[in-house]
Amino acid sequence: MHYLVTGHTGFKGSWLSLWLSERGHTVSGLALDPVPGGLFERTDIGSLLTHDLRVDVRDAASVADAITSIAPDVVFHLAAQPLVRESYLRPRETFETNVIGTLNVLEAVAATPSVAAQVIVTTDKVYRNVDREAGYVESDPLGGDDPYSASKAMADLLSQSWVKSFPGAPTAIARGGNVIGGGDVSADRLLPDLLNSYAAGVPAEIRYPGAVRPWQHVLDCLNGYLMLSDALLAGRGGGTWNIGPGRDSFVSVGDVADLAASYWGAAASWSTVIGEQPHEANLLALDATRAEHVLGWRNRLRFRTSVEWTIDWQKAVLGGADAAVVSRAQLAAFDALG
Ligand SMILES: NC(=O)c1ccc[n+]([C@@H]2O[C@H](COP(=O)([O-])OP(=O)(O)OC[C@H]3O[C@@H](n4cnc5c(N)ncnc54)[C@H](O)[C@@H]3O)[C@@H](O)[C@H]2O)c1
Repeated sequence: MHYLVTGHTGFKGSWLSLWLSERGHTVSGLALDPVPGGLFERTDIGSLLTHDLRVDVRDAASVADAITSIAPDVVFHLAAQPLVRESYLRPRETFETNVIGTLNVLEAVAATPSVAAQVIVTTDKVYRNVDREAGYVESDPLGGDDPYSASKAMADLLSQSWVKSFPGAPTAIARGGNVIGGGDVSADRLLPDLLNSYAAGVPAEIRYPGAVRPWQHVLDCLNGYLMLSDALLAGRGGGTWNIGPGRDSFVSVGDVADLAASYWGAAASWSTVIGEQPHEANLLALDATRAEHVLGWRNRLRFRTSVEWTIDWQKAVLGGADAAVVSRAQLAAFDALG
């Protein structure tokens, strides 16, 4: 099978490309340049790929050229501007990348007869947020107050409309939670920010210690995407899916920081940033019952283990271990839990 991952130079895309390659598949990727020092570079993902393309998803002609010439069997669309705070600074780029970029991928896939399945990645933030304790289910209304959330809700609705309006490859839309894991170097994400501060021996700064998020290990989330593509290839799996963490993973930012600090060791500490901050949703919870019952998917890593695996990866690599070896070992350990 030939898999195309858009956004393969990013955090999730690098793990997904590595995992697909470990499973013996042919893998190609389409994205912008990797962030220096990120997982893509550290694990030399480029060397595993048949096509390693730098294509801007906002450029319809280039996306169409790339996808029709690669002629993949399965497409995972992950490429996006994925950060809430960045979306306030660059709203136009966020909407163009996340909405028009998704349209360009959908159109290009429709013109590529080899594609037998596509998984469009959106997010838990697509739901109209009413600060509800019970998790959102797939049929709940979509919304989005900040530009990132709105752009992903638009991409989600666009994909649903596309599937209903035009014949084409079986399609799943996957809504995941906040993922954590080794090798994330994105600015403005909690675990990378915390671990960088802890490693430098300076107190970490936190914006919303009381905000509750559904934390999930990146491999649990990607396992959901992989199970969706397998189901699509088997003639099932279409529609929208919550691929969210278990109830034990709905934890406040402050509690994550405390756990990470105690697992990291002495001298790790954090404080709250004082001052006005851009709006971010306070409580976000997903109900993944549908994926559990219909796909047989479940989270294999509990919250505490997810944080520990993330810190183990970081400490091993900071200590000089080869990131590709550490990552492959975590993939093997994860597979062994199945
Ligand atoms: N990380 C999370 O916690 C999380 C949670 C829910 C959903 N998601 C979604 O998962 C996907 C991957 O997120 P990530 O955490 O790996 O982000 P990331 O920032 O690490 O990677 C983003 C990828 O998209 C690519 N990209 C960005 N703009 C592009 C453009 N204009 N043209 C082509 N490629 C472009 C980047 O080059 C990179 O490969 C995104 O769709 C994101 O919205 C992430």
